[in-house]
Amino acid sequence: MESFVTKSPRETEEVGANLAKRLKSGSVVALFGGLGAGKTAFVRGLARGMGINSEVSSPTFALVHEYEGNPPLVHFDMYRVTGWDDLYSTGFFDYLDMGAVLAVEWSENIENALPEGAIRVNIIKVDDNTRRIEIE
Ligand SMILES: Nc1ncnc2c1ncn2[C@@H]1O[C@H](COP(=O)(O)OP(=O)(O)OP(=O)(O)O)[C@@H](O)[C@H]1O
Ligand SMILES: [Mg+2]
Repeated sequence: MESFVTKSPRETEEVGANLAKRLKSGSVVALFGGLGAGKTAFVRGLARGMGINSEVSSPTFALVHEYEGNPPLVHFDMYRVTGWDDLYSTGFFDYLDMGAVLAVEWSENIENALPEGAIRVNIIKVDDNTRRIEIE
């Protein structure tokens, strides 16, 4: 396990951008950490590190945002996903088959569906501006 301490959203993005270098088609980045932990900030960095220039925002309402790239990045918010039917309707398994990189906020809610090789990123709120990020 690797562990990082960040003192700003920018630093959290940087950790994401560095992880991006190790991702490939079909990689799943499973994000854990409560409300406002910094999951979306981390995914913003992932996108940047993958060379994607799109604006990254939380897929709170759409549940999934797709960003063009090679491979593409697909960003999920599983906050309101509580069962297999919900999960299928996000397209999770289709995107996996397509070989996109998947970044999954609220992975707590779909833990049983995560593929074996998923990279687990746990973001812990230490205080207002400090986060501990554990990558396994
Ligand atoms: N070190 C840090 N890393 C990331 N975010 C930080 C940090 N310090 C403070 N913040 C603040 O925490 C918030 C993180 O928001 P973000 O949307 O990334 O979290 P989230 O985990 O995606 O939340 P949600 O549960 O709503 O999806 C922002 O308001 C950001 O400014
Ligand atoms: Mg978020």
